[in-house]
Amino acid sequence: MATEPPALVPLPAKLTPRDGTFALTPLTRIQSSPALHGLAELLRSYLRPATGLPLSVVEQAPHSRIALAIDPRLAVGDEGYRLTVAPDEIVLRAARDVGVIHGLQTIRQLLPTAVFRRAFVGDIAWTIPCLDIEDRPRFPWRGSHLDVGRHFMPKEFVLKHLDLLALHKLNVFHWHLTEDQGWRIEIKRYPKLTEVGAWRKDSMIAPRTRDPQQRKFSGKPHGGFYTQDDVREVVRYAMDRGITVVPEIELPGHARAAIAAYPELGNSDVPLEVATWWGVFDGIFGVHDRVFEFLEGVLEEVLDLFPSTYIHIGGDEVPKQEWRDNPRAQERMKTLGLANEDELQSWFIRHFDDWLSKRGRRLVGWDEILEGGLAPGATVMSWRGEEGGIAAAKAGHDVVMAPQKPTYLDHSPSELPTEPPGIGGHNSLEDVYQYEPIPRALSSEESKHVLGSQAQIWTEYMPDPKRVEYMAWPRLAALSEVVWSPKDARSWDDFARRLRTHLERLEVLDVNFRGRGNTAPLSDQGGAAPAQSPE
Ligand code: ACM
Repeated sequence: MATEPPALVPLPAKLTPRDGTFALTPLTRIQSSPALHGLAELLRSYLRPATGLPLSVVEQAPHSRIALAIDPRLAVGDEGYRLTVAPDEIVLRAARDVGVIHGLQTIRQLLPTAVFRRAFVGDIAWTIPCLDIEDRPRFPWRGSHLDVGRHFMPKEFVLKHLDLLALHKLNVFHWHLTEDQGWRIEIKRYPKLTEVGAWRKDSMIAPRTRDPQQRKFSGKPHGGFYTQDDVREVVRYAMDRGITVVPEIELPGHARAAIAAYPELGNSDVPLEVATWWGVFDGIFGVHDRVFEFLEGVLEEVLDLFPSTYIHIGGDEVPKQEWRDNPRAQERMKTLGLANEDELQSWFIRHFDDWLSKRGRRLVGWDEILEGGLAPGATVMSWRGEEGGIAAAKAGHDVVMAPQKPTYLDHSPSELPTEPPGIGGHNSLEDVYQYEPIPRALSSEESKHVLGSQAQIWTEYMPDPKRVEYMAWPRLAALSEVVWSPKDARSWDDFARRLRTHLERLEVLDVNFRGRGNTAPLSDQGGAAPAQSPE
């Protein structure tokens, strides 16, 4: 019987169909060594609610088993896995735990979509077609950024987003935690960061305009922050699902909320408020000693909370006028023998590159950190096109490709007037799918510096989780295939076919993806708002 190949997203590197099916039954056990019991329990938590089956975890099961095993000699890379589905058993092997986690996601997607329901579903044959899969990612950095500064996103939503990243074998969550419009992470040494900096009086709403006279506001205060215990929960939840959380603490720009909390960190005596509109602000950190003491204090707590090797320090969009006007900044420039304010910014970033390197971490920043000279240990996130990434890779630095076209998901998914307000043109689902993270300008040796790519979710016009999901999905599913699947195996038509089934999964998971009957009513954001439920 000819059947369609399974609708896996992202597409695995190699899949060989076999005859027959495996069926989950009341006798099926999950077999694992004690070291893998955590992952066996994760699999059980994925399968039990909908199937209602016991799926006990045991060290040795005779038949009808799902066996999980680690074999460090298995040649599948750090994150790869081998999966064999035979009529009487499923065997999932990997060299490391994270490979097992990715294999579990494949098993979930091989089962009927109803497996994603969270309560018992009757009258379903829980079968999987027999096959062999050998799978591994194309890139080690496969990410989603999320800006929680412009709009605070509740912790429960962050956890849901992490579940979705895991389902798509995405392994980096870039948590953009500080902004002009809100500081979102509790820092014990500096309580005013969240007492003052996490709250603003108002929020700009659409239409997007640079003209202050034309700006419209919601008229409502907005705010929120994550406690350190919340952060620990998020980091651990991510880790248990194979995801590294890379925190971003913006410096020296996008710092208005911090300066509103501690005015002595700025360059002027005029007090600042937490920003209420969107744009690039003059209020940046000063370059006096107090600022470095403060930022090191913040980063010490950040390093305690986040085990990630990479720590993002922002570095983007820094207007230098305040440094030009500030005698202390000019004095510092002169003492250091720096030619201009770009070099002053470079010196600022180098200080933190050095500081992080001494602590066994690596600095990552937006591509403006190239201006005035790149810090020796820095990894560059290329957002203003690919040029910054190309220059950095040619200079021997690692890069993450994050160009606005097409990885910015704040850009509209289409040109339709019914779309919610976006920023900067549009990136269609197919644009994202067709993206190639290795620029042609790089030699094969230089291209080894491309760690991968990630989607950017800036939330100026995404006031709540529903809107984030509308903008993120299914474009993030397309990106997952860009960064996971072999380049030559990718096919837009085949993705579109698999996406039909995949959207059914996202629907069961209550994801407000675009296309889920949600393009109609106008909201106070000045565009089409997602409906509360499918029509
Ligand atoms: C950015 O979009 N400012 C990195």
